[in-house]
This record gives sequence, C-alpha cells and structure tokens, in this order.
Amino acid sequence: MNKNILIKSASNFISFVMIIAFFVFSVFVPFNQVFPQIVSNYYNSLGWIVNLIFIFDLALKLILLANKKNNLGLFSEESLADYLKTYFIFDLLSIFPIALFPTNSLWQFVPLIKIFSVFNRISFIRQIILKFAPFAVVVQFLYWFIQITHWIACGWIKIDGINEQHSISSNYITALYWTTTTLTTVGYGDIVPHSNFEKLYSVVVMIIGVGLYGYLIGNVVSVITKRDPTHEHFISNLENLSSLVRYRNLPKSLTARVKQYFLYIWKNRLEHNESSFLQKLPDGLKLEVITFLKQDFIEKVNLFKDAGNEFISDLAENLRETVITPDEFVFHEGDFGEKVYFVIEGQLSVLTKNSNKEIAKIKKGDFFGEIALFKNRPRNASVKAITFCHLYYLDKNSFDLLIPKYPLISKKIEEKVLEREKQD
Ligand code: CMP
Repeated sequence: MNKNILIKSASNFISFVMIIAFFVFSVFVPFNQVFPQIVSNYYNSLGWIVNLIFIFDLALKLILLANKKNNLGLFSEESLADYLKTYFIFDLLSIFPIALFPTNSLWQFVPLIKIFSVFNRISFIRQIILKFAPFAVVVQFLYWFIQITHWIACGWIKIDGINEQHSISSNYITALYWTTTTLTTVGYGDIVPHSNFEKLYSVVVMIIGVGLYGYLIGNVVSVITKRDPTHEHFISNLENLSSLVRYRNLPKSLTARVKQYFLYIWKNRLEHNESSFLQKLPDGLKLEVITFLKQDFIEKVNLFKDAGNEFISDLAENLRETVITPDEFVFHEGDFGEKVYFVIEGQLSVLTKNSNKEIAKIKKGDFFGEIALFKNRPRNASVKAITFCHLYYLDKNSFDLLIPKYPLISKKIEEKVLEREKQD
C-alpha cells in the first residue's frame, strides 16, 4: 500500500478512536458525579485509557505536523506553528492524569477540554469523507445531541436530587424524560421545576432546545432533501408536465413520451449537470475532471478504443451529450451536416429518404454522421432512434480542428466512410 495512504488511514483511525473515547468519557464523567456508587470500580481504568488515547493522538499529530511532507491535508491546521498557537493547549491539558485525583473531584472534568479539538476534528473529517457527507451530518448531530441530553439529565439529577425510593436507572430515565420533554419544548408538565435555580436551569435548557432544533431543521432536513437532486428534478419535471396536461390539454401519447424521456434521464442520472460546478475550476483542473467523468463513456466507443490519453482529453473537452427518444429523427437526409455522433447507449436506424427503407442499424459503440463532415456535403441518409439513445457529439468546428491532428483516428474514420459509401 502507498505510504501516504497508510499514514492517512492511520491518522484517520486515531482521530476516530479519539472521537469515540471522548464520547465515552463525556458520558461517564457527569454520570460518575451523580451516581459514584456504580461507576467508581472501573472509572480509574477508563481515565488511564482515555489519557493514553489522547496522548497518542497528540503525539501523532505533533509528528505529522512537524514533518511537513507527511501532512497530507489531514488536519485543518496548516502547520505546526499554527497548531501550537491554537488547539495544542487544549490537547495538552486533556492528557491531565485524572486517575491520580479523587473520582468525585472537579479535576475529573479537565480532559473534557479536548472538546475543542473534537469539534474541530469532526467537522474536518466530514470534509474528508465527502462520499458520506449527508450521512455524516446526521451522525455528527446525534453525536452532540446524545451528549448534550445526557449532560442536562445528569445536571437535573444533581439539582433536583436523587429519589432514594427509586432505583438508579429509574432516576436516570426520569431525568432523561424531563430533559427530552423540555429540550423539545413539549413540556408535559408532570415533572416541574420548584426552586428558582431549577426554573433558571429549565429556561437555559429550553433555549438550548430551540438552538438544537434550529440546527436540526437547517442541516438535517436540507441534507435529506438534497440526498438525490436528480430525483427532485424528476419530480419537478413531472409536476410541470402535469400542468401542461391540465391547462393545455397535451395529448395522452405525447404526455407518455415526455414522461418516458424524463424517466430515462433520471434513471441514467443524465440531468446531473456538472457544468456550472466545473466552471468554478481553473482550466487545467477542469480538463482533468471532465476527462475523468467522460472517460468511461469514451471508452465505450470502438473508434476510440486504442486512442492515447492526449486524444481522450482533447476529445473530452469538446464532446457534448444528448438524448434522443424512440422514433425521433436525429437528422434527415439532405440536411446540412453539423455534428458527428457517438452512441453510448441505444440503437438507431439509417434510412433512405425516398423509400424510408432501413439500410443499416447503428448500435452502442458505433458512430454516425461522419460522412457529411468528412466530405463537406449534405447528409446521405436519415438517422432515427429505435430505442432511447444516449449520444455524445462533436460539432463541425471541433471535428475539423481535432481529427486532422490524430492521423490514426482520421484513417479509421476514412475507412468507415469508404465502407459505408460502398454499401449505400
Ligand atoms: P452522414 O452522411 O453525415 O449522415 C448520414 C449517416 O448515416 C452517414 O453520415 C453515416 O454515418 C451513416 N450511414 C450511411 N450509410 C450507412 C451504412 N451503410 N451503414 C451504417 N451507417 C451509414
């Protein structure tokens, strides 16, 4: 495995372990403060484990940042100096050996200062795992939400006191119930604050609840709606079509064809238009991305099978795509030839004008419309789609500029022209 990938994976793994360790510790610290009788036995061991993980995390980070070559964009900080000025102090304090202090002392809270690093690291990890970004938003929300709810519930037990007649779990569940009903502003009113302090505490919890739900609605809902933009587009296209049917009496057969077209576009993700996003990139990078995105399709065309990388990237830049529905003509015999087409998916018929007779079939991987461009004359036949066709095309200007630069491709096209002309 590549050394850089190994370092990246190891560092991401440590970050992941550190984030989990923080979660576990953040759950245990307040719990230990309110119910010391059930946690104390293994609390010290937990303290040492958390210390060790945080030390390991700090050491790895210092080593990677000090060795500039290995800082592969793993952390949000650009350099060691940057880190020393910001999160280093929190990471250093967080390795404070709490196991040396009484379990009920306030020193136990010190490692929680790691929260700043965790907060920063979680957001950064979200940028790294772009593929799961929507899922990560939900996990990130739950990560903080569970901790906040737990802390508030423990705080409530501390203020309101433990009900000795009930078990520890029953006390905890009641506090959790109060917290959730208050955070969500449901407030059944069966558990109410009595003292002024309790009332103030409730006010703060309610305000936190409003903020949390604002975040939830803002982020999670937008993630869910953006989950599949092509589907959103499909639904909105169908809604527009339904208006046409209702207000303009579009005939049934035409409606069905338009619907089929939208369905095809959506199923093949062809409406996922990257062009506005690509416009934001500098030219060189844009070309690399376009070439990558079109490479799979270009390789499906027989003519380009053994073409070199230079040709592929030249071609990718100039290729455009289109979809033709069944029974639709791409062009008619005698038309002025403006484009040459490459078939990515689907089947078409080559027809003579007069008898409307099929003289050939064009399949996936073939190309057509080259004769008019090559010989500078009108189309010698009509071409009509049999099935839905996903085509790439090159316009005349690009064809005239590009093809002469690559003699091998030019020769292959010429051979095809001769072969087809002989058949006609
Ligand atoms: P062009 O003349 O530009 O437009 C019609 C196209 O049909 C033509 O280019 C060829 O690409 C294609 N064509 C013509 N004759 C045949 C054939 N016999 N077999 C396959 N394709 C053909």
